[in-house]
Parts: sequence; structure tokens; C-alpha cells
Amino acid sequence: MENYTDDMMPDAAYSDPDLKRNLPGAEDAPLQEPDRQYYFIEKCRQWAERFAVEHGQCPRSCVVNYGCQMNARDSEKLAGILDQMGFEKSAEEEADFVIMNTCTVRENANLKVYGRLGVLKARKQKNPHMLIALCGCMMQEPKVVEKIKKSYRFVDLIFGTHNIYRFAELLYARLSGDGMVVDIWKDTDKIVENLPADRKYFFKSGVNIMFGCNNFCSYCIVPYVRGRERSRRPLEILREIENLAADGVVEVMLLGQNVNSYGKNLDTLVSFAELLRQVEAVPGISRIRFMTSHPKDLSDELIQTMANSEKICRHMHLPLQSGSSRLLKIMNRHYTKEQYLALVDKLRAVMPDISLTTDIIVGFPGETEEDFQETLDVVRKARFDSAFTFIYSRRTGTPAAAMEDQVPEDVVKDRFDRLLAEVQEIAKKTCARLEGQTQPVLVEEINAQDARLVTGRLSNNLLVHFPGDASLIGKIVDVELTQCRGFYYLGNQR
Ligand code: SAH
Ligand code: SF4
Ligand code: F3S
Repeated sequence: MENYTDDMMPDAAYSDPDLKRNLPGAEDAPLQEPDRQYYFIEKCRQWAERFAVEHGQCPRSCVVNYGCQMNARDSEKLAGILDQMGFEKSAEEEADFVIMNTCTVRENANLKVYGRLGVLKARKQKNPHMLIALCGCMMQEPKVVEKIKKSYRFVDLIFGTHNIYRFAELLYARLSGDGMVVDIWKDTDKIVENLPADRKYFFKSGVNIMFGCNNFCSYCIVPYVRGRERSRRPLEILREIENLAADGVVEVMLLGQNVNSYGKNLDTLVSFAELLRQVEAVPGISRIRFMTSHPKDLSDELIQTMANSEKICRHMHLPLQSGSSRLLKIMNRHYTKEQYLALVDKLRAVMPDISLTTDIIVGFPGETEEDFQETLDVVRKARFDSAFTFIYSRRTGTPAAAMEDQVPEDVVKDRFDRLLAEVQEIAKKTCARLEGQTQPVLVEEINAQDARLVTGRLSNNLLVHFPGDASLIGKIVDVELTQCRGFYYLGNQR
């Protein structure tokens, strides 16, 4: 059963006549979303009950997540649907159903998935009832889907980013028939609200405020696999956050590829800063974060809103990508080195305690030593609290992939090492500036290395380890930051 569509398919509920026709018992399914998906959740639940009788236990599932916070949030939604279907959560090794939510932003994200599939194949040979699904960004690349259909025939279900809300319906299609079910859409203008989610942490949650990206940075595959930018309506976002707060969430992270352009496609224009002010008014929410800010759209209104806020965390992730204005232009980033540095100054002038983090790519096609020196110069001037450094990865279909003068591997590696050394040395010093202060910390978990300690997060996103127990998890407590250990603190509760 396949539905690989090359045309845009905005009308989701009707877009798949084959699937609908072929599903036994699906004739009565509502056409409205999300009702339709709740109908299929119930159908899958009945299947899970039969499975439990047959095997003496509930089917176990595991969602394996790759990629960014947006993918992580999608995985929570898949887990929420599985939970309602009566699947029990398990480790990957024990799962009867493994779903891999994939990322394709860089080649190594891709390679991991193929490696994992090899392991799953062996496991499925031993447990033929096992189900394997693939979804997420990588599945939006036609050549990937072709490869899986040809060389990984044991995969049961493939779907993409635009129809993830249809997971229950697609799983039911697989359970009611034989062979691989493939459903990939090229794009969508639809946002389906009110499906369940199963959060990883009870006290914090990501909240999508927009989907897709319109920026087409020349190296980046995200706009091709996530489609055009679509903002959720403020009312829907606020309702979700109110429900999260009622469910014990104290920290939300508003998610989008470029949150600063939030609201541009809505009927009534709402700026991101305005949305933040509305979120700030939700009782029970103590901390607000957001990801990611594009420098080209960072407004004074947003900076002021942050500065005036008690709840918006003192952290801004502001991807630089390169310090060379020449390369930034070819990257299609719409800002110069000087404009970027001016933003940094403006943020620090208004919020001296703000933590700034960034993303940097090394080895973009045509990058010269001079370009690279410009990047180092920005790193030295901006003094980031931390930076994610990436080696440029050639993504098929992006303009940069077709550019001549790709930089040789050894040159890139050398620049990468020099950049990392610089970034780390500065970050170490920048991070230490809070030593001796007492700051509020949201406790997240028992420390992985030492069970007598808990690990929490400062407003500025740095981690602190201090003596405590599980009763503190989810609480915001005052902690004296006694010692900075490079990129984290040791402390004591006050
Ligand atoms: N929307 C976010 C970034 C999402 S992808 C933004 O614009 O800030 C996260 C990071 O991956 C990017 O900031 C970039 O630094 C990196 N990245 C994206 N495409 C890449 C590529 N082809 N090679 C290497 N790094 C890449
Ligand atoms: Fe990619 Fe640029 Fe969009 Fe970020 S803003 S997701 S880097 S295209
Ligand atoms: Fe990866 Fe998709 Fe996020 S490509 S970085 S999971 S949007």
C-alpha cells in the first residue's frame, strides 16, 4: 500500500483514498480531524488488546528520536498516541514496535539511522511479529524512501513530517494489511490540534508555535523536508500552555525554526514578542524559553519584552553560522558580521546577565582562511557562553551542494579544531562569571554519575549539580553557585 505523492496535498483527510478504501472497518471513520485519528487510536487499542491476550502482555513500543527539539516534541506526540492505544513504553531492545523519528540536517544524522536499521533487522528476524516504523525529516527525501523500499524491505511503515498527525490511521493500515505502508506528502498547509502527547519531563515541555521554514539558507535542507512556514494561532498555543500548566508544567520552550518571524501568516498579525507577553500571563508557568531566533528578524520589541519579563529566561540562542559577511551573503542569511555584533551589543546593553549561545558552520563551500578568521573574530568579540560547531555537510538539493570549491576535508578539520579550542576557552571564562552568586535553579533529574546529587538548570541554561534528592525534581530552588567546572556549576541549596 503506497501513497507517494509529488503534488501538494493540503486536504489531508481526503488525500488518501486508497488507504481509506482498503481499511476494513474504516468506512465509519469521521472525516474531521482530530476525530478521525481518535477513531483509529481506538481501532489500534482493540488490536493491542488482542495482542495482549495472545502474547500474555501488552505490546511494548519505543520511539527513538534523532534531531532537534522540534523532532523531540513530535516524538512525544507519537508516544502520547501509542500510550492511548495501550502500548507500554519500553527500552528499544525490548520493544515490539520501534519507531525511528529521523533527522537529515547533516549526513551523519542519516548514517546513524541506516546503522540502527541493520541492528533492528537482526532483531526482527528473531521476532517476526516485531513492527518497525520510520518517520521524520529523512523520510521527506525521495531517494531515502526509494532506498528503504528497495534494500530495507522489513520496514513496516514509513511516513513523513507533514502527516505525522495521521500516525494512528497509518499504523491501523499496516495492522490491517500486509507489507510496507508508505505515506509521504510533499507539503501541507494544515495544522492538526489536540492530539495527545506523552512528555519526557512532567515539569517542562516544548510547545510548537510554528512549523516549517521559509528562509532557505543555502546549506540547509530543513525548508525542503519541513515545508513552508506556518504559525499556530495564539489561542491554540495558549490553550495548550494552560493545559500544560494545569498538568504540572512550570517551564515551556516555544519552538520554531525561526521564532522571530512568528505570526506572519496569521489572519491577524501577532508578533513573537506579543505572543511571549501572552504566554507570560499564563498562571503556573514560571519559565519561558524559545528556540531558535534568526538574527535577521530579532526585533527591539523582543529585546524589550525579554528585559521587562520575570519569566523569560536569560538565554538567547542566536545562530551565527559564519563571521564572514561575504559568506553570510552566499549562505542567504540576510545579515552581516557587523549587524550580528551590533545585536550582541544591544542584547548585552539591555540584559548584562544574558547568556548567548550560537551555531557555527565550518567549511562552507568557498570558505577561505580569511573568512574563517572573520568567524574567529566574532567568536572573540561576542564571547559566547557556548557554541555548537558543525562541519559543513553537503545536502542534496540545496544550492550550496552544487557550489564549486567545496573545501578539502583536511582543511576543514584543521579549522574546526582551531574553532573548537577558541570557543571552549572563551566559554569556560564566560560561564564562570556567576561563581559565588545564588540563583534560582529548576531541578531536572538525579545526577547520572552521583545519586547523592541532583542536576538543575539556571535561567541562563547552564547546568548545576548539588546535593539533593528526587523530591526536588520539578521544583525551582535557590542554589549558591560555589564552583564553576568549565561548562557547569557545583553548588549548594540555600
Ligand atoms: N533554524 C535554525 C537552525 C536549525 S538547524 C536556525 O536557523 O538557526 C541547526 C543548525 O544546524 C544550524 O544552525 C546550522 O548551524 C546547522 N546546519 C544546518 N545545515 C547544515 C549543514 N548542511 N551542514 C552543517 N551544519 C548545518
Ligand atoms: Fe535552516 Fe536557515 Fe531555516 Fe534555520 S533558518 S532551518 S538554518 S533554512
Ligand atoms: Fe533535523 Fe529535521 Fe530538526 S532535519 S534538525 S530533525 S527539523
